[in-house]
Formats: sequence, structure tokens, C-alpha cells
Amino acid sequence: CGIVGYVGPQSALDVVIAGLKRLEYRGYDSAGVAVLADGALATAKRAGKLVNLDKALAEAPLPTGSAGLGHTRWATHGAPNDTNAHPHLDNAGRVAVVHNGIIENFAALRAELAGRGHALASETDTEVVAHLLAEEFAGGGGLAEAMRRVCRRLQGAFTLVAVHADEPGTVVGARRNSPLVVGVGEGEAFLASDVAAFIAHTRDALELGQDQVVEARRDGVTVTGFDGTPAEVRTYRVDWDASAAEKDGYASFMLKEIAEQPRAVADTLLGRVAEDGTLRLDEARVRPEVLREARKVVVVACGTAFHAGLIAKYAIEHWARVPCEVELASEFRYRDPILDHRTLVVAISQSGETMDTLMALRHAREQGAHVLAICNTNGSTIPRESDAVLYTHAGPEVAVASTKAFLTQLVACYLVALYLGQARGSTDGAEIRAAVRELARVPDALERTLATMEPVRDLARDLADKRTVLFLGRHVGYPVALEGALKLKELAYMHAEGFAAGELKHGPIALVEPGLPVVVVVPSPSGHRLLHDKIVSNIQEIRARGARTVVVAEEGDESVVPYADHLVRVPAVPPLLQPLVATVPLQVFACALATGRGNDVDQPRNLAKSVTVE
Ligand code: G6P
Repeated sequence: CGIVGYVGPQSALDVVIAGLKRLEYRGYDSAGVAVLADGALATAKRAGKLVNLDKALAEAPLPTGSAGLGHTRWATHGAPNDTNAHPHLDNAGRVAVVHNGIIENFAALRAELAGRGHALASETDTEVVAHLLAEEFAGGGGLAEAMRRVCRRLQGAFTLVAVHADEPGTVVGARRNSPLVVGVGEGEAFLASDVAAFIAHTRDALELGQDQVVEARRDGVTVTGFDGTPAEVRTYRVDWDASAAEKDGYASFMLKEIAEQPRAVADTLLGRVAEDGTLRLDEARVRPEVLREARKVVVVACGTAFHAGLIAKYAIEHWARVPCEVELASEFRYRDPILDHRTLVVAISQSGETMDTLMALRHAREQGAHVLAICNTNGSTIPRESDAVLYTHAGPEVAVASTKAFLTQLVACYLVALYLGQARGSTDGAEIRAAVRELARVPDALERTLATMEPVRDLARDLADKRTVLFLGRHVGYPVALEGALKLKELAYMHAEGFAAGELKHGPIALVEPGLPVVVVVPSPSGHRLLHDKIVSNIQEIRARGARTVVVAEEGDESVVPYADHLVRVPAVPPLLQPLVATVPLQVFACALATGRGNDVDQPRNLAKSVTVE
């Protein structure tokens, strides 16, 4: 979910709605706002995307307000309807609350409130907070104190923002595990799930720690722990500029972000190589002995970031010669993994807020492992709770399905693999320099790839009515196939599956029937001749059974031409780096196919960009 709170001289309604627009990627099952004006609360909320709320506000305008809050929801408790939309109010309609996360003991609290005569209108866990806050506020001490008392009673993960009609100059926020950042402007303050909600107004941000409550007023902010002790706060400047989160004339953020990939890759490489060609990941601050003495590396991540992790394994084992496991973050801690101080855990996350990944890294640290985060979001929770962090510099990624962040995660993984190789002496300086030179050529290769995507878009239009698409790959092309299939599921709502091409004959080949589109990612013939030839045989096997083959192959690889119904060329790059270029046509394909089917590519149904529940 996305949350915004505001207090200051501007129209609270306008600031909150504009902020929600920036946060809609976090969930779009419903949206709502509440503003304080003339000593009363005015609220509006609607199921569905923010446009529905916009329409409702156009028909029945709210006052502008001096303070307010808003919410865009990714449903957890209760169906995504108008009643369950946030904000939630107490019975007297004096307090309004928005919430992200899950309050685990809400059933007990609800029963307790019902026993005291409270009538709860929704099925949400959030509404209990509104009622509890009203009770505590009545007990005196102000809204922030009421929030602290309530938070001490809550179990689970949550971000809460609240306003009270009897304290119109204050917006209060609280966080445990779920994200909340504070923006401090001239005579105004902002609370939000993500800095994107307020960078148009201020770049001065303040990190809120776990179990802290912030009281925001026009004249400043006060932060305390849940127990009331004043907290030390760290401020920072947000280096994303507001225009980076605009569409810039593209039809969708997704198209813009696909097009930004050459720049994103170049930015992620920037400043990481010293003049003598050695890698410098100083900012990552991993102690050299941790790298030298690591007995294994474990990568944890979710979704697209997990696919980056699968590719990292090939690079890490190749360059660093250390065993590497890759695991879905949501599975990791529940199987009691074997970890100790000689384990290096790499947690990959674009948002830095994915709860599954956060819980995995906490578990790893509890077992004594060292955690290095690869993250795109400065100041987010995952890097803050890790021992070290390597930031990707993709800039803000707004489309829910990840594209440019994925490519930069790959770059970061290659850098980590090479850095490990350098520290452990398993890769010599010349090879590192050569690999870095090759990485530096990738932005150019990406530009060339992007310039030749028209046939891919045509093909997507042609296949828009298909029900299933399969993706095959080998070696690093296998995770690319998985990612291609995931993109198609996310964006086009089509059945798509990725397989290791060699595994096809052990079962999935039974799915192949005449006309079935099968996308095959072919490894470079110069890198792995044997592997390359095997996949060419695999293509023949499926073609013999009537499949319509879409072959993604390196420029100059003529051996695949006879078996390709559709041939997509990507520039030749070293075999390990091929995912950087081979993923691009699959992104373009999924995006075009989804558009052809009339889907919203930036906000696919049921998804959210940053999933802050387990
Ligand atoms: C969500 C998004 C995916 C993303 C995954 C991991 O499920 O819909 O696109 O890959 O989370 O996100 P992270 O921010 O941790 O990279």
C-alpha cells in the first residue's frame, strides 16, 4: 500500500492526491483521502484505481484542508470495495487512519472494542486502530502520545498515519517494519511510504527507524520511540529529481523504463572502477576478510530480483569460485538454512522494502551471516538492516513489472562476482579488467538492441490471441527464459512458462502442439559451442512437433536461421553477460502483447510493486 500525510500551507487535498499518484504503483485496489478543514474531517474513498477517487472528488469536492492523509491500497484484509478502502474513522468521525501492513492481533482487539460498544464498519484490521486511537486520544496527552500507546498494543508489521479533528495542526505517523519516510519543507511536512510522494516539494528527507512515532507540524517534526524516548534521526538529501518520475512523452512508464536501460546500466557502473582497472566497491563496505573467508554465498530475493539472483550464481561461481545458492526469500528462513559467519548473503531488492526479503536477511544475520544488499532505493529498510549495500542506479522505477531495475541488478551482481574474485584471488587482474571493459560496452549494445525492436512488437501483435507461450534457455539463458515468462504473466495475463531447454524432453515437451509459440534464448556459439549446438537440437525437436519458434540469437549466428520462424537478433556480448541484452526483446514482447490485449502495463491487475507483507 501507499500512504501520504501532509501538514502545511498548501491545499492538503492537492498535495495528498498528487502524492498518491506517485505511489499508486504500490497498490491500486482502492484509494482514499481525509482532510482537516474547519475543525472537522472530510473524507472520500473509492474501490479501484485512483481515477475513480478523482471522479468522485470532481462530483463531490472536498475542502482543501490544512492537513490530510491518503492511501492507495493493495488488499490484504477484506475485499477491495468502498467500505474497506482507507482512511478508516472512529465512530464519532474525529480521527482518520491509513495503514500499510498487517496487524496480527486485530481479531482480539476488535472483539475487545466491540465489548466496549464500538461499532466497526469494515472487515479491515485498520479500523481497530482508528477506534483505539480515539479512545487513547480522549485519555489526554495529544495525538502522538495516543499513537504511541496504541502502537505498544499492536502486533505485526505496520505503517500508520493519522489525523485528529481536535488537533488540526498535526499529522502523526508510526512504523514497525513497513516503510515510512518524512519530508521536511519550509513550514510544511510530509509523511509517505516513499520519497516519490514528495520530491516535487522537498528533497530533505528523514529516515524513520523501527518502532518510532513521528509527529509532524508546520514548524517541524519530532520523533520518539513507541515508549516516548526521543529518537536520534538521520536526515538525507534525495538525489532523484522529480522529473525522473514523469512519463516524458512515453505512452507508459514501462516503455520509458525499457528505453532508459542503457543509461541505467551506465550509471550503475559509474565510479566502480579505479584508474588501475581494479574494482572499487568502497561504498559497499564489506570487510575484505569477509569476502576472502566466505565459504558460500547465498542469494535471496523475490520475483524479478530472484531471476537476477539465479544469473548471479553463474557469475559468482565462475569468477569467485565459491559455491553459491539462490533461494526465494519467502522460502528461505522456513527451512532452517545452514548459515554462519562464513556465509555471505546477498539480498537483492529494487524497492528495499519487500517483506519476504527483509525477513530472510534478518534471519541470516541472526545466524551470524554477513549480508550485502543490492538495492535501488536509498534509505530503504533492506539496505539499512544489511551489513553493506551496493546501490543500483536505475533511478525511480514506477511501472510495477521490473525492467531497468532488473538490468542494473544484473550489473551489480556481476560487479559483486568480480569483486569477490578479486578479493579471493580467483580471478586475475587482466580478466577483471577485460570483464569490466565488456560491461562498459553494454549500454551501447543495449542502444542497438532497442533500435531493432519493431519486428518484436509486430510479432507480439500477431500473437495477442494465443493462450500459452513457452520460453526456453540454457545456462544464463535459463533464468532469462524464466524472466520472459514472468513478464508475460504479469503484463499480458497469459499462461507462460520458462524451462531449461534440456529439461523439456523430460516432461514439458508434452505441451508442444502445432502453432504453440516457443521463445528460445540461444547461447553464443563462441562461448559455449556444445551448449549452443544442444539448444539448436532442442529447437529442431519442438519445431518437428509444430511449435512456432521465436529464436533470440546473437548477430552472426547463422546456424539457427533454418529453424527460426521468427528471428530476433541481439548484439554479441560475452556469454555470461548475455542476459543483459537477451532480456530486452522479451520485455518489449510482453509489453507490446499486453498493450495489444488492452491491459494497463504500468499497473497490472492484482499486483503491487512493493509488497510489504509476507
Ligand atoms: C513484487 C513486484 C515484482 C518484484 C518483486 C520484488 O512482487 O511485483 O515486480 O520483482 O516484488 O521486488 P523488490 O522490490 O524486492 O525487487
